[in-house]
Amino acid sequence: MAQKIAFITGGNRGLGFQTALDLKAEGVKVVIGSRDLSQGEKALAQLREAGVDADVLKFDITDPADHQAAYDYFNSKYGRLDILVNNAGIAGGTFPGTGPEHRASDVPLELLHKVFETNFFAPVALTQTLLPLLKKSAAGRIVNLSSILGSLTLHADPKSPIYNAKSFAYDASKTALNAFTIHLAYELRGTKIKVNSAHPGWVKTDMGGDQAPMELAEGSKTSVELATLPENGATGGFLHLGKPLPW
Ligand SMILES: NC(=O)c1ccc[n+]([C@@H]2O[C@H](COP(=O)([O-])OP(=O)(O)OC[C@H]3O[C@@H](n4cnc5c(N)ncnc54)[C@H](OP(=O)(O)O)[C@@H]3O)[C@@H](O)[C@H]2O)c1
Repeated sequence: MAQKIAFITGGNRGLGFQTALDLKAEGVKVVIGSRDLSQGEKALAQLREAGVDADVLKFDITDPADHQAAYDYFNSKYGRLDILVNNAGIAGGTFPGTGPEHRASDVPLELLHKVFETNFFAPVALTQTLLPLLKKSAAGRIVNLSSILGSLTLHADPKSPIYNAKSFAYDASKTALNAFTIHLAYELRGTKIKVNSAHPGWVKTDMGGDQAPMELAEGSKTSVELATLPENGATGGFLHLGKPLPW
């Protein structure tokens, strides 16, 4: 079987980087996207040092020219893409915290647009651009890095663990990303492509912060699992460590 080719956005640090490391065990060729190429090259050196078959692309998810460049890269080099991990994301402020980004009543619209641009519009646009290449894969997998904080069911339940963890800009952007997962999976239900939302857990990264209970190696497991799902695996799901989460 041909070696699988994966593209991980925001692969220079945090969960994206760890996912690239872990895909080594699956024999995948991993291309990490990094908006700062020098950071990406440092990460690439570490990945190669660890024995990962990896490359780096300069990639800012909010730049449509980079989407086209990614398409051209995978098309000319491989003629297909097997795995797309839409991992790049921003919190849009302190996380957890108490700033205006957390309040629906007065979140600055500029901030709301910025968070939605990175966490929702850009991954939708990138997926649309790369979809023709994913359709050429024998087993295309799309993983959208969502969050439990995107769950409307849990936010509405006073007994849920996230009831008081409201960060409007971030949460709503992940809710919208979940809608993309459901709609795209529906459209692609007759194909070999599986589309799922991942909640990695609350993980120690620059975004997750030091108080997070989960280490990186545990946090990347959901992304890796959804990136390498077997033919009978889930599609249109919202999962954390193999278990479904409420939308
Ligand atoms: N950590 C958690 O507890 C947690 C929980 C639930 C969901 N998630 C989700 O998991 C994903 C990864 O989070 P993380 O914790 O690893 O965050 P992180 O450590 O802050 O890393 C974020 C990554 O996204 C990249 N990025 C941000 N904006 C970008 C842009 N415009 N173009 C390209 N890359 C961009 C960053 O690149 P730079 O280095 O250039 O900034 C970095 O590589 C995010 O989607 C996040 O929402 C995380």
